Amino acid sequence: MRKKIVAGNWKMNLDYAEGISLFSEIVNMVRDEKQGEQLAIICAPSIHLNSLAKLGGNTVSIGAQNCHQKESGAYTGEISAKMIKSVGCEYVIIGHSERRQYFAENNELLAEKTIIALQNGLTPIFCIGETLDERNNGSYFEVLKSQLEESIFGLSAEDFGKIVIAYEPVWAIGTGLTATSEQAQEVHAFIRKEIAGKYDSVVADNTSILYGGSCNPKNAGELFAQTDIDGGLIGGASLKSRDFVDIVKTFNA
Ligand code: PGA
Repeated sequence: MRKKIVAGNWKMNLDYAEGISLFSEIVNMVRDEKQGEQLAIICAPSIHLNSLAKLGGNTVSIGAQNCHQKESGAYTGEISAKMIKSVGCEYVIIGHSERRQYFAENNELLAEKTIIALQNGLTPIFCIGETLDERNNGSYFEVLKSQLEESIFGLSAEDFGKIVIAYEPVWAIGTGLTATSEQAQEVHAFIRKEIAGKYDSVVADNTSILYGGSCNPKNAGELFAQTDIDGGLIGGASLKSRDFVDIVKTFNA
């Protein structure tokens, strides 16, 4: 069975003390309030990861927001998947639209990053999503299909079974514009159908597909109730402990 997941993406926010403080609050609240089997994950700036991994215990897992595509070497300023794993992280976001947009990360590069993350025992949270233009001109299914085909459909079924997908329409990220639950469900069902076509229906059924883009405690319930939505990747609302934990609690029994 696929897992239900609520992952926070802090992006480039919070200094070290602020990060420790917010994370400690989140861990305590999740420990006290979570009732279901859902996983809570925080993807933090890399400088926070080592400390957070030690504070999270079995309650909140930790992820990085990016990794380099090579194992090691002369890549000044970069951080490898092995380093991320070595401090106790389990997850890494790959292909976030902000990495695609501001750091020119393309599908081919993201395929390499996915492979290196898997080789180092990290679970990639692989992001795909269309821009507003692509939504409006009706090309979004093709765009999403090529993001899948050129980045992660080269994986073996076994490796594909280890990744999590996040559908994040670029027009909904940080804008306050959430995809309606129908729009999100339509795309999630499409992604699952593509996975079934490429691999098989067992792989498709077992893949967790998260929604991201202005998800908050008010809209999470309706989004997560959709058949093919298995949780969320949460930006802004993950910077407030109450909001993030309320989204996690959306899955409470
Ligand atoms: P948002 O960001 O929730 O602030 O829209 C989501 C994301 O970028 O992962």
